[in-house]
Amino acid sequence: MLKKYLHEKKVLIDENLELCLKELEYPLVISEGMKYSVLNGGKRIRPILLLTILELLEKDEKKGIPTAMAIEFIHSYSLVHDDLPALDNDDYRRGKLTTHKKFGEAEGILIGDALLTYAFGILADKNGFLEPDQIVKLVSLTSKYSGIQGMIGGQTVDIQSEGKKIDFETLKYIHENKTGKLLKLPIEAACIIGKADKKTEEILMRYAELIGLIFQIKDDILDVEGDFEKLGKPIGSDLESKKSTYPSIFGMNKSKEILFSVANEAKEIIRTNFSNETAQILIELANYMVVRES
Ligand code: IPE
Ligand code: IPE
Ligand code: MG
Ligand code: MG
Ligand code: MG
Repeated sequence: MLKKYLHEKKVLIDENLELCLKELEYPLVISEGMKYSVLNGGKRIRPILLLTILELLEKDEKKGIPTAMAIEFIHSYSLVHDDLPALDNDDYRRGKLTTHKKFGEAEGILIGDALLTYAFGILADKNGFLEPDQIVKLVSLTSKYSGIQGMIGGQTVDIQSEGKKIDFETLKYIHENKTGKLLKLPIEAACIIGKADKKTEEILMRYAELIGLIFQIKDDILDVEGDFEKLGKPIGSDLESKKSTYPSIFGMNKSKEILFSVANEAKEIIRTNFSNETAQILIELANYMVVRES
């Protein structure tokens, strides 16, 4: 059931992303680079989370599509810059050459910049279904979770921690920010769009935090024991750049134990608070994130 659900949502998101990017032309290296970096088989987990939470709140998913796209543009930009020689220096992403390998390093930086700025344009220009104060809240939240208080903060400490022994607090900060915030963003955005009440929002935010953690622990595990063909990005990249990860700090067995227990907590939160069909999807999503191979 989940596989079909994920596929249908991914198709919907991909169609919208493609339509949006079609509007861009000159300079060609940037518009082509943006398309190359976004329309390349990403799992679309973040936009899917946004649409699924709207569904849980029994709201029209149409209202969430522009914001879902904006978040995927920011996520894609974060990957383009993450792979640059000055950061993780990786050559493959989503099974293809990384953007800077394909278009050049300067162009890679500019393509990432263009994706980030374009995302804010989408939030402002395409959200005609929302009220102005909802749009302002979404812009503010997106800025916060993408920047120094979010993804950039995490990426910075990740880079600064290379080759160093770090404590658990620092690892927690890295995970909560470099990955966690861009996974929390779609869930919190859906609460704004769907006008969730305070209690529902609190429950969903806890689920979001756990999902972020599951996601990055699994990403760290896959970097050790994943399969390049399935993953579409190099294995062993973290070890090579002496990153601090769950396996490097806790060892593989303990990392898996933590992964299972975090996933159980995420599922339990949904199970005890919601009972409709979409709640089942959120439970299965937590499972999928534990067993995913790509
Ligand atoms: C990879 O994210 C980078 C991390 C935040 C760990 P995804 O695994 O969601 O990448 P795509 O979008 O499916 O390629
Ligand atoms: C990067 O984390 C997360 C962001 C791009 C913000 P990683 O460096 O672990 O992601 P991968 O493994 O290259 O996808
Ligand atoms: Mg990185
Ligand atoms: Mg990386
Ligand atoms: Mg990784």
